[in-house]
Amino acid sequence: MKIAILPGDGIGTEIVAEAVKVLHVLGLKFETETALVGGTAYEAHGHPLPESTLKLAMQADAVLFGAVGDWKYDKLDRPLRPEQAILGLRKNMGLFANFRPAICYEQLVDASSLKPELIAGLDILIIRELTGDIYFGQPRGRRVATDGHFPGAEEAFDTMRYSRPEIERIAHVAFQAAMKRNKKVTSVDKANVLETFQLWKDVVTEVGKQYPEVTLDHMYVDNAAMQLVKEPKKFDVMVTGNMFGDILSDAAAMLTGSIGMLPSASLNAKNQGLYEPSHGSAPDIAGKGIANPLATILSAAMMLRFSLNQAQAADRIEAAVKKVLSQGLRTADIYSSGTTKVSTVQMGDAVVSALR
Ligand code: IPM
Ligand code: MG
Repeated sequence: MKIAILPGDGIGTEIVAEAVKVLHVLGLKFETETALVGGTAYEAHGHPLPESTLKLAMQADAVLFGAVGDWKYDKLDRPLRPEQAILGLRKNMGLFANFRPAICYEQLVDASSLKPELIAGLDILIIRELTGDIYFGQPRGRRVATDGHFPGAEEAFDTMRYSRPEIERIAHVAFQAAMKRNKKVTSVDKANVLETFQLWKDVVTEVGKQYPEVTLDHMYVDNAAMQLVKEPKKFDVMVTGNMFGDILSDAAAMLTGSIGMLPSASLNAKNQGLYEPSHGSAPDIAGKGIANPLATILSAAMMLRFSLNQAQAADRIEAAVKKVLSQGLRTADIYSSGTTKVSTVQMGDAVVSALR
């Protein structure tokens, strides 16, 4: 088993270090190789996704990824910005299916900004299409201003598009996931306004006929955002496009107490996967040792389960995370009075002890 480790920017290095520490106490045989990605790669090699990093990722059985991005790169040309690294990995590896589970741990019910009764027992799965939509639409661009400068441009455009096969394959992923859960899929679209999402709705409906046991409903994205905070437990599997999925998964993350808890898996047709926390690089808290490593540790568990065929080891990690939460250990983002505030490293160490 070969795992490519790509910590990236901001808190990426700190949180990935904790996840790697956890992987090493499981007694499994695997090799790791670390490479630069994002802003750090740009600084060192002049590109956020150097050829060597992409090659490493493509050849590995799985990729453990931290986060990329920093406001200090906002002025760079778009192809050189850190975010292009994760988008490039997704596109080049064909990682079209993004799983973002939002589970509210019993111990964290009070850490959410929502009332406990709304989120206690919450367990929903957002499935986000990851290689299409407006993120990768062509044409895209800005019309150069009369003085020849982009920053003065008067107009900009991005193109939203999906093809039938792209929608079909993500719909199958969603229905198959629902078959293993509560057999309910909510497809989120904006068919009332956008042609792209009328096609989305039609194709998901067609694919759904192959899964008669699964209940399918459709919801406009604005309503879905509202329902997520109004009555989140009525969802089981939500499936949606790249951009709506980006937005809704951040909203869903907060239901669980903190975005610092939310892991994710991005899979291709060969079950090769990239595993990353759903949160970003948080440059404002980078280097302070206060970031929550649990989303990354839980992403490593998803990696063991989905790409490395080590479901038991994954279960052990998840149980260890529950145990440290039960012990009352909390990083700053999930801290509430009566619990014990710990640093990034202490949280990683606690998971390691729980595993031992
Ligand atoms: C995410 C992030 C990325 C996205 C950024 C960093 C490109 O927000 O994984 O949700 O928009 O997909
Ligand atoms: Mg996002």
